[in-house]
Amino acid sequence: MMRHFFQALLAILFLSSGTLGYTQCDGVIPGMHEFADEGDVNLGFAVNNSDTNNPDLLAILLANGNMVVPANALKFGPLHPERDVYNFSSADQIVALAQANRMTVRGHTLVWHLQAPAWLDPASGWLDLTPQWRKRWTRDELIEVMRDHIHTVVGHYRENFPGVITQWDVVNEAFRTDGSRRPTIWQQVIGDDYIELAFRFAREADPDAKLYLNEFYDSSISLGEFVLGRDPTYENSLGASADRSDCSDVPRCAAVRALATDFVQRGVPIDGIGFMGHHFVFNDDWPFPANYERLAGWTKSLGLSWALTEVDVGLRGNAVATPAQERDQALRFEKMVTACMRAENCDTVVFWALTDAVHWQRSDEFWDWATLIRDNGEPKLAYWHVFAALVEHIRSRSVEER
Ligand code: XIL
Repeated sequence: MMRHFFQALLAILFLSSGTLGYTQCDGVIPGMHEFADEGDVNLGFAVNNSDTNNPDLLAILLANGNMVVPANALKFGPLHPERDVYNFSSADQIVALAQANRMTVRGHTLVWHLQAPAWLDPASGWLDLTPQWRKRWTRDELIEVMRDHIHTVVGHYRENFPGVITQWDVVNEAFRTDGSRRPTIWQQVIGDDYIELAFRFAREADPDAKLYLNEFYDSSISLGEFVLGRDPTYENSLGASADRSDCSDVPRCAAVRALATDFVQRGVPIDGIGFMGHHFVFNDDWPFPANYERLAGWTKSLGLSWALTEVDVGLRGNAVATPAQERDQALRFEKMVTACMRAENCDTVVFWALTDAVHWQRSDEFWDWATLIRDNGEPKLAYWHVFAALVEHIRSRSVEER
């Protein structure tokens, strides 16, 4: 343990550039994988097949993650293109890679409104625009579709890759900012109990995997969403305001909490809540430790876990980041990771892409340059802050154990 600690310290102190990965690291930059194992943390990266087929990106993944999340391959559309056709090949490739390298997988995601196949939802989730399409399903039919999809997909992985997919995002983005249910095809045709049904089907198909509701929480102020509060100690803070993360006046959070409370009380199978963690530099939604402590508190009081499932911090369109932006980015990553590590009921942090080059919003004016690692494989300041947070987690655990 101490050997790793010093190795990491050396790496952090002496190296601020270089590329990552087994092939290039010549034993000097260790990567975070072993540390994650040592800290009992699931440290994951979202990947597409094009990433895992690229030797440089694969090396970065293997060196730094002990968990993999197919960014798209397990979504309804790619996996279930026709009503009677399942195409597991892309997702299987990623899950097999994880299995071969003794990594686990988060299954993302079973029930969502986006990236749906045309046979199910011709508008692929944007059905607010074309409500007439909803009429093609009855409630019973759509429940049957959902049951078949969840049983087949979860069952396929349980049977063919036992124990590899340890967590499923059963339902994704079910609530709107104002706390109301998002009017998806599932909500409109099946009704309020679609979430409950999805969790029950998932539990039937895999009694062992942890089942998550995955939701926005601390993100998207620039998408017109909420502010959690501001850290008066943060130098870039735009001003102090009351901490509001107890959920009472953050409608979506309150809705998630109410749903989770109801599920736990009625014995609906749910194990955790995923909070995505999509952030932007210099935004008002600073990831305050106090906010996460509250989050950890109410989830824990329900006996639930929470996880950071899609962490990224966009730099707002600057091809060359300023030092201040890179610092802000690094601190946001660090605060989120530290919050999870400090919480008893959070053991999973997933970064939503391996490097800037393959981030899904690469060309988006807001969200680009949002990862820990540059296009050329060079770790950014944010990488070292995350690494340091991981090492600190290991250190503080070893102090507690003594
Ligand atoms: C994104 C993928 O990364 C992209 O490749 C795809 O084009 C769109 O979806 N919230 C989620 C993820 O839950 O599934 C999304 O992933 C990012 C936002």
